[in-house]
Amino acid sequence: MRRLLPVTDQTPDDDREWSLDELADAYAYPDPAPGSGTWLRANMVSSLDGAAQHDGRSQPLSSDTDMRIFGTLRALADAVVVGAETVRMEGYRPARAREAFAERRRAAGQGPAPAIAVVSASLGLDFSLPLFTAALTPTLVLTGAAAPPDRIRAAERAGVQVVIAGDGAGVDPARAVRALAERGLRRLLTEGGPRLLGQFTASGSLDELCLTLSPAMAAGDSQRIAGGPALAVPERFALASVLEEAGFLYTRYLRSRV
Ligand SMILES: NC(=O)c1ccc[n+]([C@@H]2O[C@H](COP(=O)([O-])OP(=O)(O)OC[C@H]3O[C@@H](n4cnc5c(N)ncnc54)[C@H](OP(=O)(O)O)[C@@H]3O)[C@@H](O)[C@H]2O)c1
Repeated sequence: MRRLLPVTDQTPDDDREWSLDELADAYAYPDPAPGSGTWLRANMVSSLDGAAQHDGRSQPLSSDTDMRIFGTLRALADAVVVGAETVRMEGYRPARAREAFAERRRAAGQGPAPAIAVVSASLGLDFSLPLFTAALTPTLVLTGAAAPPDRIRAAERAGVQVVIAGDGAGVDPARAVRALAERGLRRLLTEGGPRLLGQFTASGSLDELCLTLSPAMAAGDSQRIAGGPALAVPERFALASVLEEAGFLYTRYLRSRV
C-alpha cells in the first residue's frame, strides 16, 4: 500500500503490505471534536459510480485490504454504531478481541473489543443471535421512547441493554451520540448503513468519513453511502489522507469547521 497524501519525507515509496500497527497509527482517533467530547467517524465503501452495495451487500465492492482497514477502525473504536438493516443484511456478529490491538486498547483505557450499538425503531431483531448473546462487550440497542414495549421486553429478557435516545419511535442521531458518550463511549465508528449515515450527516454529528473508493462500476439503482432527505446545503469535508493499493483509494475526510 502507498500513501499518496499527505506526502512527507517519511513517505515510503515501496508498495508493501502495511502492518496492523502502521494502519492503527494512520487511523488514530483525533482529539475529540470541540465542545462535544466525542468523535464520530464513518467507514464506508463505494464503487466508482457511487453504489454502496451490490446484491444487498457491500462485500462485492470491498477487498482484503479494505477489510483490514475495516478491522483496524473497529479495533480503535469504543463503539460501532450501525443501522438495524445493515445488521440484518450483513449478518452482524460481535466484534472480536484481537491480540494485535490488545496493548493499544489497554493503553487507551478501552476494553478488549468495541461495543456494537444497533440503531432500531422496530426492534425487529433476533435477540437469540450471537451478536446479542455472545458479545465480549455487551451489544447495545438504541431506540426511541415509543419503541414497541414487547420488543423492548424481548431485548431485555435476552440481556440486551436498551438505550432510549429519542422521544418518538426513532432515535435522534445527535442524542444517540450523547447517550453513548454518557456511557463512556466517545470514540465512535459508524458502519452505516446509508439511511443511518444520512441522518448523522444531516444532524451535524459526523466528524470524519473514511471512504474506500473501489475501482469498480456497479450501475443499477443501489443506494449511495448516505441516504434520506438532501441537506439544505452540502456539508464540506477536507481531505486528510489517501492511501492506495491495487487501484483502491482509502481516503479520510474531516468535517470542515469553518
Ligand atoms: N457500502 C458500505 O460501506 C455499506 C455500509 C453499511 C451498509 N451497507 C449496505 O446498506 C444496506 C443497508 O443500509 P440501509 O441504509 O438500508 O439501512 P441501515 O441504515 O443500516 O438501517 C436502517 C434501519 O436502521 C434503523 N434506523 C435508522 N435510522 C433510525 C432512527 N433514526 N431511529 C431508529 N431506527 C433507525 C431502522 O431499523 P428498524 O427497521 O429495525 O426500525 C431502519 O430500518 C445493506 O445493503 C448494506 O449492505 C453498505
